[in-house]
Amino acid sequence: MNDSPSAGFSISEGAFQKALRAVEIESGIRLPDSNRRTLISFLAGRLTALDMDMERYLRHVWRNRAEYAALIDAVTINETYFFREEKHFRILKNHLLPQWDRKGIQYFHFWSAACSSGEEAISLNAMIHGMRKEKGGRGIRASILASDINPHSLALFTRGIYTRNAFRKDGSAFNGLLEPYLRRETHSVIIDDSLRKEIDIQKINLFRDDLSELKERFHLIFLRNTLIYMSLEIRGEILDRVVKTLRPDGYLFLSASEIPLISHPLLELEQVQNTYFFRKKNPEELRQGVNPNPICEVVPSDLGETGAIPLSIERVLPKKEIPFAGEVRGKYPIDTEKILFYASQRLNNRLFTAQQDINFSFALQFLHIIWLIRENRYADGRDLMELIDPLLPKNEISCYLWGYLELVRGNPQKAGFRFSEALQCNSGCWPARFYRANTLRDEYPRIAEREYETCGRDICSYIDQNQYYYQFLLEGFNAKYFLDMCREWQKRLKEDRRWP
Ligand SMILES: C[S@@+](CC[C@H](N)C(=O)[O-])C[C@H]1O[C@@H](n2cnc3c(N)ncnc32)[C@H](O)[C@@H]1O
Repeated sequence: MNDSPSAGFSISEGAFQKALRAVEIESGIRLPDSNRRTLISFLAGRLTALDMDMERYLRHVWRNRAEYAALIDAVTINETYFFREEKHFRILKNHLLPQWDRKGIQYFHFWSAACSSGEEAISLNAMIHGMRKEKGGRGIRASILASDINPHSLALFTRGIYTRNAFRKDGSAFNGLLEPYLRRETHSVIIDDSLRKEIDIQKINLFRDDLSELKERFHLIFLRNTLIYMSLEIRGEILDRVVKTLRPDGYLFLSASEIPLISHPLLELEQVQNTYFFRKKNPEELRQGVNPNPICEVVPSDLGETGAIPLSIERVLPKKEIPFAGEVRGKYPIDTEKILFYASQRLNNRLFTAQQDINFSFALQFLHIIWLIRENRYADGRDLMELIDPLLPKNEISCYLWGYLELVRGNPQKAGFRFSEALQCNSGCWPARFYRANTLRDEYPRIAEREYETCGRDICSYIDQNQYYYQFLLEGFNAKYFLDMCREWQKRLKEDRRWP
């Protein structure tokens, strides 16, 4: 690590890294590169104003509430708006609430677990109020907890004053539900107390605070657009804590872009109208150890004749069968297409073997790396990649997996570079294009939009041709899922262009 001052500001790179580590240890947040400059200028300002070095400042922060709040505010991304990802609210209205109603649940417990300034929780409450009005004052009620680590955001929530930016095209299908509770002023929109005061607003740090009081309390948790800013290890830890607060058969919603990076042994992925969310397994499912794969049942046509895709590589790939393909360079013909073919066949059929071919061994190695990633054993995954990668010519699978490993470590820029390399090896490697678009989305939305468009086209032709060879890279999801994501993001980015 070099200790030279960060460009244009008066704190050293070493001091800055110390602050980043302290923030991650406290909150789990790994600051995206795009926010680096803002934090550097914030810290430089604070160190000067308080006349402290970084060590002293970091000690001061944990003892001083106002300073803590200011630092947390500088590192959190608080972007949110009413009825964000309106598809989730549609599922709630048309699917989950009627289901609970049929089961006789009259009161359901909801947690907006990283609520920022509260738009998510208010949206939900407006929806419940709307449905009760439709039923003449009868129907389901909700107890709503809304929490965040950022005291500044919670203060905004408590004031209930919003800007027009809190109302976007995405969400507009339901924004009408807020009308009876709105007062418009020249530069702001005020939400009526009646809607806000029913919500229990608390400061909760999902990474550090004791959540045991909330054990198995919630029927529904929204934890959207938050884990994305954390390393996969920390995501796993937070997910573990949050899952404990869900009731059996309770639902967890993450944002669409987070879902492919998440798996948990107690969570079952569900899909309704191409919208994906998790359900906590119930005791009966856990006793039976069943792991039905609803994705396969929902869109069987994408899977060819081969049938179900096991969600867990572990179940099809006993570790003792993983040979080490040493001393191969130059001696054996390496063929990436064959590796792809073998990996997808093996993933799909545990009896599939082709041991005579070195490409088969590589296919097993790649499957093993994916299994390690799913087990959150990223360091082991990287170690294995480092062993096998030098044995192979540059190829799209290695580049893709390197990209994926960077992504889960929270290095989107490095990941984007690796995904670009995968595309240089094979421009048709659409999983790499998909994730490349994800890494570009915030800083280069126009390029990301074009990438999603190209990726969507590539996926369509992949599906049309009944192809299967990238399936093993998709972690149990199918091509149709990625196609939906591409279309969704293209639409959103297009809308963002129209809605400043
Ligand atoms: C981008 S906002 C998401 C808001 C809302 N869930 C949505 O999807 O529109 C992310 C929020 O996560 C909060 N956050 C980050 N780390 C957290 C932690 N460790 N505990 C609780 N909240 C956290 C941030 O303060 C921020 O308000």
